[in-house]
Amino acid sequence: MATHPANRIPGKQPRWSQRFEGVLHPFIVRFNASIRFDFTLLQEDLDGSVAHGRMLAACGVITAAEAGQIVDGLETIRREAAAGTFRPGVDTEDIHFAVERRLIELVGDVGKKLHTGRSRNDQVGTDLRLWLRGRIDELEILLRRYGQTLLRLAEDHVDTMIPGYTHLQRAQPLSLAHHLLAYVEMTQRDRQRLAQVRQRVNVSPLGAAALAGTPVPIDRRRTAAALGFADIYRNSLDAVSDRDFAVEFLAAASLMMVHLSRLSEEVILWASQEFAFVSLTDRCATGSSLMPQKKNPDVPELVRGKTGRVFGHLQALLTVMKGLPLAYNKDLQEDKEGLFDAVQTTRDCLEAMIILLEEGLRFQPRRLAEAVGSDFANATDVADYLVARGVPFREAYGLVGGLVKACLQEGVLLQDVPLERWQQVHPAFAEDIFTVLQPRQVVAARLSEGGTGFVRVREALEQAKTAFAD
Ligand code: ARG
Repeated sequence: MATHPANRIPGKQPRWSQRFEGVLHPFIVRFNASIRFDFTLLQEDLDGSVAHGRMLAACGVITAAEAGQIVDGLETIRREAAAGTFRPGVDTEDIHFAVERRLIELVGDVGKKLHTGRSRNDQVGTDLRLWLRGRIDELEILLRRYGQTLLRLAEDHVDTMIPGYTHLQRAQPLSLAHHLLAYVEMTQRDRQRLAQVRQRVNVSPLGAAALAGTPVPIDRRRTAAALGFADIYRNSLDAVSDRDFAVEFLAAASLMMVHLSRLSEEVILWASQEFAFVSLTDRCATGSSLMPQKKNPDVPELVRGKTGRVFGHLQALLTVMKGLPLAYNKDLQEDKEGLFDAVQTTRDCLEAMIILLEEGLRFQPRRLAEAVGSDFANATDVADYLVARGVPFREAYGLVGGLVKACLQEGVLLQDVPLERWQQVHPAFAEDIFTVLQPRQVVAARLSEGGTGFVRVREALEQAKTAFAD
Protein backbone atom coordinates (compact mmCIF):
# COMPACT_ATOMS: atom_id res chain seq x y z
CA MET A 1 0.00 0.00 0.00
CA ALA A 2 1.44 3.34 -1.02
CA THR A 3 1.92 5.90 1.71
CA HIS A 4 2.12 9.05 -0.31
CA PRO A 5 2.71 12.16 1.84
CA ALA A 6 -0.79 13.27 0.97
CA ASN A 7 -2.16 9.96 2.12
CA ARG A 8 0.00 8.85 4.96
CA ILE A 9 -0.67 7.34 8.34
CA PRO A 10 -0.35 10.13 10.91
CA GLY A 11 2.78 9.78 13.02
CA LYS A 12 4.57 7.65 10.44
CA GLN A 13 7.15 8.80 7.91
CA PRO A 14 5.68 9.04 4.43
CA ARG A 15 6.81 7.14 1.38
CA TRP A 16 6.18 8.54 -2.06
CA SER A 17 4.93 5.45 -3.78
CA GLN A 18 5.66 1.78 -3.77
CA ARG A 19 8.83 2.63 -5.60
CA PHE A 20 10.33 3.88 -2.34
CA GLU A 21 11.44 1.50 0.35
CA GLY A 22 13.26 3.72 2.81
CA VAL A 23 12.21 6.95 4.44
CA LEU A 24 13.70 10.44 4.31
CA HIS A 25 16.32 11.49 6.83
CA PRO A 26 14.49 13.58 9.45
CA PHE A 27 16.69 16.59 8.77
CA ILE A 28 15.99 16.32 5.07
CA VAL A 29 12.27 16.22 5.79
CA ARG A 30 12.60 19.69 7.27
CA PHE A 31 15.11 20.84 4.67
CA ASN A 32 12.80 19.82 1.86
CA ALA A 33 9.58 21.16 3.32
CA SER A 34 8.07 24.47 2.33
CA ILE A 35 4.90 24.29 4.45
CA ARG A 36 6.35 26.75 6.97
CA PHE A 37 6.09 29.51 4.36
CA ASP A 38 3.82 28.23 1.61
CA PHE A 39 0.92 27.93 4.05
CA THR A 40 0.49 31.55 2.90
CA LEU A 41 -0.91 30.09 -0.34
CA LEU A 42 -3.71 28.14 1.37
CA GLN A 43 -6.67 30.15 0.03
CA GLU A 44 -5.31 30.11 -3.50
CA ASP A 45 -4.53 26.39 -3.27
CA LEU A 46 -8.13 25.74 -2.25
CA ASP A 47 -9.46 28.02 -5.02
CA GLY A 48 -7.31 26.26 -7.60
CA SER A 49 -8.41 22.84 -6.38
CA VAL A 50 -12.09 23.76 -6.39
CA ALA A 51 -11.78 24.94 -10.00
CA HIS A 52 -9.80 21.85 -10.99
CA GLY A 53 -12.27 19.45 -9.31
CA ARG A 54 -15.27 21.09 -10.96
CA MET A 55 -13.53 21.04 -14.32
CA LEU A 56 -12.80 17.30 -13.96
CA ALA A 57 -16.51 16.70 -13.50
CA ALA A 58 -17.47 19.00 -16.38
CA CYS A 59 -15.12 17.00 -18.62
CA GLY A 60 -16.55 13.70 -17.43
CA VAL A 61 -13.33 12.58 -15.73
CA ILE A 62 -15.09 12.29 -12.37
CA THR A 63 -18.79 12.40 -11.58
CA ALA A 64 -20.64 15.51 -10.48
CA ALA A 65 -21.31 13.85 -7.13
CA GLU A 66 -17.61 13.16 -6.64
CA ALA A 67 -16.76 16.76 -7.51
CA GLY A 68 -19.41 17.90 -5.03
CA GLN A 69 -17.82 15.85 -2.24
CA ILE A 70 -14.37 17.15 -3.14
CA VAL A 71 -15.50 20.78 -3.17
CA ASP A 72 -17.34 20.32 0.15
CA GLY A 73 -14.19 18.85 1.65
CA LEU A 74 -12.08 21.74 0.38
CA GLU A 75 -14.54 24.25 1.83
CA THR A 76 -14.41 22.40 5.15
CA ILE A 77 -10.64 22.88 5.14
CA ARG A 78 -11.20 26.58 4.49
CA ARG A 79 -13.45 26.77 7.54
CA GLU A 80 -10.99 24.79 9.63
CA ALA A 81 -8.25 27.20 8.66
CA ALA A 82 -10.44 30.18 9.56
CA ALA A 83 -11.07 28.57 12.95
CA GLY A 84 -7.37 27.94 13.35
CA THR A 85 -7.68 24.17 13.56
CA PHE A 86 -5.98 23.35 10.24
CA ARG A 87 -2.31 23.51 11.14
CA PRO A 88 -0.33 21.09 8.99
CA GLY A 89 3.09 20.09 10.26
CA VAL A 90 6.43 19.72 8.52
CA ASP A 91 5.65 16.08 7.64
CA THR A 92 3.10 17.26 5.05
CA GLU A 93 5.98 18.85 3.10
CA ASP A 94 4.03 21.59 1.39
CA ILE A 95 0.63 23.24 1.22
CA HIS A 96 -0.45 21.11 -1.75
CA PHE A 97 0.16 17.84 0.05
CA ALA A 98 -1.27 19.23 3.28
CA VAL A 99 -4.56 20.10 1.62
CA GLU A 100 -4.76 16.85 -0.33
CA ARG A 101 -4.06 14.80 2.78
CA ARG A 102 -6.65 16.61 4.86
CA LEU A 103 -9.14 16.26 2.01
CA ILE A 104 -8.66 12.51 1.95
CA GLU A 105 -9.08 12.38 5.73
CA LEU A 106 -12.31 14.34 5.40
CA VAL A 107 -13.96 12.75 2.34
CA GLY A 108 -12.19 9.44 1.98
CA ASP A 109 -11.08 7.76 -1.22
CA VAL A 110 -12.88 10.18 -3.53
CA GLY A 111 -10.35 12.80 -2.40
CA LYS A 112 -7.67 10.74 -4.09
CA LYS A 113 -9.20 11.64 -7.46
CA LEU A 114 -8.55 15.37 -7.17
CA HIS A 115 -4.97 15.20 -8.35
CA THR A 116 -5.98 13.64 -11.69
CA GLY A 117 -4.54 15.50 -14.65
CA ARG A 118 -2.43 17.96 -12.70
CA SER A 119 0.89 18.05 -10.89
CA ARG A 120 2.20 20.13 -8.04
CA ASN A 121 4.30 21.91 -10.66
CA ASP A 122 1.37 23.53 -12.41
CA GLN A 123 -0.47 23.71 -9.09
CA VAL A 124 2.19 25.77 -7.31
CA GLY A 125 2.51 28.07 -10.32
CA THR A 126 -1.25 28.60 -10.27
CA ASP A 127 -1.32 29.31 -6.54
CA LEU A 128 1.54 31.76 -6.72
CA ARG A 129 -0.01 33.70 -9.58
CA LEU A 130 -3.41 33.86 -7.88
CA TRP A 131 -1.78 35.01 -4.68
CA LEU A 132 0.33 37.67 -6.36
CA ARG A 133 -2.60 38.94 -8.38
CA GLY A 134 -4.54 39.50 -5.16
CA ARG A 135 -1.61 41.31 -3.55
CA ILE A 136 -1.10 43.48 -6.63
CA ASP A 137 -4.75 44.56 -6.39
CA GLU A 138 -4.24 45.50 -2.74
CA LEU A 139 -1.04 47.35 -3.56
CA GLU A 140 -2.83 49.34 -6.23
CA ILE A 141 -5.32 50.54 -3.61
CA LEU A 142 -2.47 51.45 -1.28
CA LEU A 143 -0.55 53.25 -4.01
CA ARG A 144 -3.63 55.27 -4.79
CA ARG A 145 -4.06 56.22 -1.13
CA TYR A 146 -0.40 57.19 -0.97
CA GLY A 147 -0.79 59.38 -4.07
CA GLN A 148 -3.92 60.98 -2.63
CA THR A 149 -2.04 61.74 0.59
CA LEU A 150 0.74 63.43 -1.37
CA LEU A 151 -1.88 65.35 -3.31
CA ARG A 152 -3.63 66.64 -0.19
CA LEU A 153 -0.31 67.84 1.14
CA ALA A 154 0.55 69.44 -2.20
CA GLU A 155 -2.79 71.20 -2.24
CA ASP A 156 -2.00 72.82 1.11
CA HIS A 157 1.37 74.00 -0.12
CA VAL A 158 1.00 75.45 -3.59
CA ASP A 159 2.02 78.86 -2.23
CA THR A 160 4.67 77.55 0.12
CA MET A 161 8.10 77.86 -1.43
CA ILE A 162 11.06 75.61 -0.87
CA PRO A 163 14.60 75.88 -2.21
CA GLY A 164 15.12 73.58 -5.17
CA TYR A 165 18.47 71.83 -5.39
CA THR A 166 20.80 70.29 -7.90
CA HIS A 167 23.96 68.63 -6.57
CA LEU A 168 22.37 69.37 -3.17
CA GLN A 169 23.31 73.01 -3.83
CA ARG A 170 20.61 75.66 -3.80
CA ALA A 171 19.47 76.07 -7.40
CA GLN A 172 16.09 77.76 -7.86
CA PRO A 173 13.09 78.17 -5.58
CA LEU A 174 10.07 75.97 -6.13
CA SER A 175 6.49 75.70 -5.12
CA LEU A 176 6.52 72.98 -2.45
CA ALA A 177 3.52 71.47 -4.23
CA HIS A 178 5.63 71.11 -7.37
CA HIS A 179 8.24 69.20 -5.38
CA LEU A 180 5.59 66.88 -3.91
CA LEU A 181 3.96 66.43 -7.31
CA ALA A 182 7.21 64.96 -8.59
CA TYR A 183 6.61 62.07 -6.18
CA VAL A 184 3.02 61.84 -7.37
CA GLU A 185 4.36 61.31 -10.90
CA MET A 186 6.61 58.48 -9.70
CA THR A 187 3.62 56.93 -7.98
CA GLN A 188 1.65 57.17 -11.19
CA ARG A 189 4.36 55.25 -13.03
CA ASP A 190 4.44 52.69 -10.22
CA ARG A 191 0.72 52.12 -10.72
CA GLN A 192 1.13 51.73 -14.47
CA ARG A 193 3.99 49.30 -14.03
CA LEU A 194 2.03 47.24 -11.56
CA ALA A 195 -0.91 47.07 -13.94
CA GLN A 196 1.40 45.81 -16.69
CA VAL A 197 2.96 43.21 -14.42
CA ARG A 198 -0.53 42.09 -13.44
CA GLN A 199 -1.28 41.22 -17.07
CA ARG A 200 1.61 38.78 -17.14
CA VAL A 201 0.76 37.41 -13.70
CA ASN A 202 -2.78 36.73 -14.82
CA VAL A 203 -2.09 33.77 -17.11
CA SER A 204 -2.95 30.21 -16.10
CA PRO A 205 -0.37 27.42 -16.08
CA LEU A 206 -2.91 24.93 -14.71
CA GLY A 207 -3.20 21.79 -16.79
CA ALA A 208 0.40 21.89 -17.95
CA ALA A 209 0.69 19.03 -15.43
CA ALA A 210 4.27 17.99 -14.59
CA LEU A 211 5.82 19.42 -17.75
CA ALA A 212 4.28 17.90 -20.87
CA GLY A 213 0.55 18.21 -20.49
CA THR A 214 -1.71 15.27 -19.71
CA PRO A 215 -3.62 12.55 -21.58
CA VAL A 216 -6.57 13.20 -19.26
CA PRO A 217 -9.23 15.07 -21.26
CA ILE A 218 -9.10 18.27 -19.24
CA ASP A 219 -10.26 21.74 -20.20
CA ARG A 220 -7.61 24.29 -19.33
CA ARG A 221 -9.72 27.20 -20.50
CA ARG A 222 -12.46 26.25 -18.07
CA THR A 223 -10.19 26.35 -15.00
CA ALA A 224 -8.56 29.53 -16.26
CA ALA A 225 -11.96 31.23 -16.63
CA ALA A 226 -13.13 29.96 -13.23
CA LEU A 227 -10.05 31.42 -11.60
CA GLY A 228 -10.32 34.75 -13.41
CA PHE A 229 -7.19 34.28 -15.53
CA ALA A 230 -7.21 36.28 -18.75
CA ASP A 231 -5.32 33.64 -20.72
CA ILE A 232 -3.48 30.32 -20.46
CA TYR A 233 0.19 29.52 -21.05
CA ARG A 234 0.61 28.21 -24.56
CA ASN A 235 3.55 25.92 -23.80
CA SER A 236 3.44 23.42 -20.96
CA LEU A 237 7.20 23.56 -20.26
CA ASP A 238 7.15 27.33 -20.10
CA ALA A 239 4.03 27.18 -17.92
CA VAL A 240 5.68 25.21 -15.12
CA SER A 241 9.11 26.84 -15.25
CA ASP A 242 8.35 30.51 -15.86
CA ARG A 243 8.86 32.93 -12.99
CA ASP A 244 9.26 36.06 -15.14
CA PHE A 245 6.10 37.43 -13.60
CA ALA A 246 7.62 37.23 -10.12
CA VAL A 247 10.87 38.83 -11.27
CA GLU A 248 8.91 41.61 -12.92
CA PHE A 249 6.89 42.16 -9.80
CA LEU A 250 10.07 42.35 -7.70
CA ALA A 251 11.51 44.86 -10.17
CA ALA A 252 8.35 46.97 -9.96
CA ALA A 253 8.41 46.71 -6.16
CA SER A 254 12.08 47.70 -6.16
CA LEU A 255 11.25 50.88 -8.05
CA MET A 256 8.40 51.64 -5.67
CA MET A 257 10.90 51.31 -2.86
CA VAL A 258 13.40 53.54 -4.67
CA HIS A 259 10.73 56.24 -4.79
CA LEU A 260 9.77 55.83 -1.15
CA SER A 261 13.41 55.81 -0.17
CA ARG A 262 14.19 59.02 -2.03
CA LEU A 263 11.35 60.85 -0.34
CA SER A 264 12.50 59.37 2.97
CA GLU A 265 15.97 60.71 2.39
CA GLU A 266 14.56 64.17 1.76
CA VAL A 267 12.42 64.07 4.89
CA ILE A 268 15.46 63.01 6.90
CA LEU A 269 17.46 65.94 5.53
CA TRP A 270 14.58 68.37 5.97
CA ALA A 271 14.13 67.31 9.59
CA SER A 272 17.78 67.98 10.42
CA GLN A 273 18.64 71.16 12.29
CA GLU A 274 20.72 72.22 9.30
CA PHE A 275 17.63 72.35 7.06
CA ALA A 276 14.79 72.53 9.60
CA PHE A 277 12.24 72.61 6.76
CA VAL A 278 9.98 70.18 8.62
CA SER A 279 9.42 69.35 12.22
CA LEU A 280 8.56 65.82 13.23
CA THR A 281 5.48 65.32 15.34
CA ASP A 282 5.44 62.85 18.19
CA ARG A 283 3.34 60.45 16.06
CA CYS A 284 6.28 59.06 14.10
CA ALA A 285 9.47 60.23 15.79
CA THR A 286 11.34 58.57 18.59
CA GLY A 287 13.83 59.77 21.16
CA SER A 288 17.30 58.65 22.03
CA SER A 289 17.94 56.48 25.06
CA LEU A 290 20.87 58.69 25.95
CA MET A 291 20.52 62.17 24.47
CA PRO A 292 17.45 63.93 25.85
CA GLN A 293 17.33 66.57 23.12
CA LYS A 294 17.07 64.06 20.23
CA LYS A 295 14.06 63.44 18.03
CA ASN A 296 14.86 60.89 15.38
CA PRO A 297 13.22 60.31 11.98
CA ASP A 298 12.99 56.54 12.43
CA VAL A 299 10.14 56.03 10.01
CA PRO A 300 11.84 57.41 6.88
CA GLU A 301 15.10 55.82 7.99
CA LEU A 302 13.45 52.42 8.21
CA VAL A 303 11.82 52.85 4.82
CA ARG A 304 15.19 53.80 3.33
CA GLY A 305 16.78 50.83 5.08
CA LYS A 306 14.14 48.29 4.08
CA THR A 307 14.56 49.19 0.42
CA GLY A 308 17.66 47.01 0.34
CA ARG A 309 15.73 43.86 1.22
CA VAL A 310 13.43 44.24 -1.75
CA PHE A 311 16.40 44.78 -4.10
CA GLY A 312 17.94 41.69 -2.53
CA HIS A 313 14.87 39.57 -3.26
CA LEU A 314 14.96 40.68 -6.90
CA GLN A 315 18.62 39.77 -7.19
CA ALA A 316 18.05 36.45 -5.42
CA LEU A 317 15.28 35.35 -7.76
CA LEU A 318 17.19 36.38 -10.88
CA THR A 319 20.05 34.25 -9.60
CA VAL A 320 17.77 31.28 -8.87
CA MET A 321 16.47 31.43 -12.43
CA LYS A 322 19.60 31.94 -14.44
CA GLY A 323 20.88 28.41 -14.53
CA LEU A 324 17.71 26.35 -14.51
CA PRO A 325 17.25 23.81 -17.28
CA LEU A 326 13.64 23.22 -18.30
CA ALA A 327 11.31 22.53 -16.76
CA TYR A 328 10.48 22.44 -13.02
CA ASN A 329 13.42 22.23 -10.62
CA LYS A 330 13.16 22.29 -6.87
CA ASP A 331 15.18 25.52 -6.88
CA LEU A 332 11.88 27.13 -7.79
CA GLN A 333 10.63 26.53 -4.26
CA GLU A 334 13.01 29.38 -3.40
CA ASP A 335 10.78 31.84 -5.27
CA LYS A 336 8.35 32.26 -2.40
CA GLU A 337 9.88 33.70 0.74
CA GLY A 338 11.49 36.65 -1.03
CA LEU A 339 8.32 37.41 -2.94
CA PHE A 340 6.21 37.22 0.21
CA ASP A 341 8.63 39.44 2.09
CA ALA A 342 8.86 41.94 -0.76
CA VAL A 343 5.08 42.29 -0.83
CA GLN A 344 4.90 42.71 2.93
CA THR A 345 7.78 45.17 3.03
CA THR A 346 6.47 47.33 0.21
CA ARG A 347 3.01 47.35 1.73
CA ASP A 348 4.30 48.25 5.19
CA CYS A 349 6.49 51.02 3.82
CA LEU A 350 3.62 52.56 1.84
CA GLU A 351 1.42 52.45 4.92
CA ALA A 352 4.14 53.98 7.09
CA MET A 353 4.79 56.77 4.59
CA ILE A 354 1.08 57.59 4.41
CA ILE A 355 1.04 57.97 8.20
CA LEU A 356 4.25 59.98 8.15
CA LEU A 357 2.88 62.39 5.55
CA GLU A 358 -0.52 62.65 7.18
CA GLU A 359 0.46 63.12 10.77
CA GLY A 360 4.18 62.71 11.22
CA LEU A 361 5.57 65.93 9.87
CA ARG A 362 4.80 69.63 9.62
CA PHE A 363 6.41 71.89 7.07
CA GLN A 364 7.85 75.05 8.62
CA PRO A 365 6.62 77.95 6.44
CA ARG A 366 8.66 80.65 8.22
CA ARG A 367 11.87 78.74 7.92
CA LEU A 368 11.12 77.87 4.28
CA ALA A 369 10.38 81.51 3.43
CA GLU A 370 13.61 82.55 5.09
CA ALA A 371 15.51 79.89 3.16
CA VAL A 372 14.19 80.89 -0.26
CA GLY A 373 14.87 84.58 0.42
CA SER A 374 18.47 84.24 1.53
CA ASP A 375 20.47 82.94 -1.39
CA PHE A 376 21.35 83.55 -5.01
CA ALA A 377 18.67 81.25 -6.39
CA ASN A 378 17.31 84.26 -8.31
CA ALA A 379 20.54 84.78 -10.29
CA THR A 380 19.22 82.98 -13.39
CA ASP A 381 16.26 85.33 -13.45
CA VAL A 382 18.59 88.31 -13.52
CA ALA A 383 20.32 86.84 -16.55
CA ASP A 384 16.91 86.14 -18.14
CA TYR A 385 15.97 89.78 -17.41
CA LEU A 386 18.90 90.97 -19.52
CA VAL A 387 18.13 88.41 -22.21
CA ALA A 388 14.61 89.84 -22.45
CA ARG A 389 16.28 93.22 -23.07
CA GLY A 390 18.39 91.99 -25.94
CA VAL A 391 21.59 90.87 -24.18
CA PRO A 392 22.85 87.49 -25.45
CA PHE A 393 22.43 84.83 -22.72
CA ARG A 394 26.12 83.95 -22.42
CA GLU A 395 27.05 87.58 -21.91
CA ALA A 396 24.26 88.13 -19.38
CA TYR A 397 25.36 84.97 -17.55
CA GLY A 398 28.91 86.34 -17.29
CA LEU A 399 27.80 89.75 -15.99
CA VAL A 400 25.54 88.27 -13.33
CA GLY A 401 28.23 85.80 -12.29
CA GLY A 402 30.57 88.75 -11.65
CA LEU A 403 27.95 90.51 -9.56
CA VAL A 404 27.23 87.37 -7.52
CA LYS A 405 30.94 86.99 -6.82
CA ALA A 406 31.19 90.58 -5.58
CA CYS A 407 28.07 90.14 -3.41
CA LEU A 408 29.49 86.98 -1.86
CA GLN A 409 32.70 88.82 -0.99
CA GLU A 410 30.74 91.65 0.58
CA GLY A 411 28.24 89.37 2.32
CA VAL A 412 25.17 90.88 0.65
CA LEU A 413 22.36 89.44 -1.48
CA LEU A 414 21.27 90.59 -4.95
CA GLN A 415 18.22 92.28 -3.50
CA ASP A 416 20.54 94.46 -1.34
CA VAL A 417 22.37 95.88 -4.36
CA PRO A 418 21.29 99.50 -5.09
CA LEU A 419 19.94 100.42 -8.53
CA GLU A 420 22.95 102.60 -9.47
CA ARG A 421 25.21 99.60 -9.08
CA TRP A 422 22.92 97.43 -11.20
CA GLN A 423 23.12 100.03 -13.90
CA GLN A 424 26.91 100.00 -13.72
CA VAL A 425 26.75 96.27 -14.44
CA HIS A 426 24.44 96.89 -17.41
CA PRO A 427 22.44 99.99 -18.37
CA ALA A 428 19.38 97.86 -19.20
CA PHE A 429 18.64 97.31 -15.47
CA ALA A 430 15.73 99.37 -14.14
CA GLU A 431 13.70 99.60 -10.93
CA ASP A 432 11.62 96.51 -11.86
CA ILE A 433 14.67 94.29 -11.30
CA PHE A 434 13.71 94.25 -7.61
CA THR A 435 10.39 92.61 -8.41
CA VAL A 436 12.15 90.01 -10.55
CA LEU A 437 14.38 89.17 -7.59
CA GLN A 438 11.47 88.22 -5.32
CA PRO A 439 11.37 84.43 -4.82
CA ARG A 440 7.62 84.46 -5.45
CA GLN A 441 8.24 86.10 -8.80
CA VAL A 442 11.06 83.67 -9.58
CA VAL A 443 8.67 80.75 -9.06
CA ALA A 444 5.68 82.38 -10.75
CA ALA A 445 7.68 83.15 -13.88
CA ARG A 446 8.41 79.48 -14.66
CA LEU A 447 5.34 78.91 -16.74
CA SER A 448 6.79 76.50 -19.29
CA GLU A 449 4.86 73.23 -19.44
CA GLY A 450 5.83 71.08 -16.48
CA GLY A 451 7.43 74.06 -14.71
CA THR A 452 6.96 75.27 -11.14
CA GLY A 453 4.98 78.44 -12.00
CA PHE A 454 2.00 78.53 -9.62
CA VAL A 455 -0.46 78.48 -12.50
CA ARG A 456 1.15 75.33 -13.92
CA VAL A 457 1.25 73.70 -10.50
CA ARG A 458 -2.47 74.25 -9.97
CA GLU A 459 -3.14 72.70 -13.39
CA ALA A 460 -0.94 69.71 -12.59
CA LEU A 461 -2.67 69.26 -9.26
CA GLU A 462 -6.08 69.09 -10.88
CA GLN A 463 -4.89 66.57 -13.46
CA ALA A 464 -3.32 64.36 -10.81
CA LYS A 465 -6.45 64.51 -8.67
CA THR A 466 -8.39 63.02 -11.55
CA ALA A 467 -5.78 60.34 -12.13
CA PHE A 468 -5.89 59.33 -8.46
CA ALA A 469 -9.65 59.56 -7.94
CA ASP A 470 -11.27 56.35 -6.65
N1 ARG B 1 6.76 22.92 -2.77
C1 ARG B 1 7.05 22.97 -4.16
C2 ARG B 1 7.41 24.38 -4.59
O1 ARG B 1 7.17 25.24 -3.82
C3 ARG B 1 5.85 22.50 -4.93
C4 ARG B 1 6.17 21.92 -6.24
C5 ARG B 1 6.92 20.65 -6.03
N2 ARG B 1 7.09 19.90 -7.22
C6 ARG B 1 7.95 18.89 -7.30
N3 ARG B 1 8.03 18.28 -8.41
N4 ARG B 1 8.71 18.56 -6.29
O2 ARG B 1 7.93 24.61 -5.64
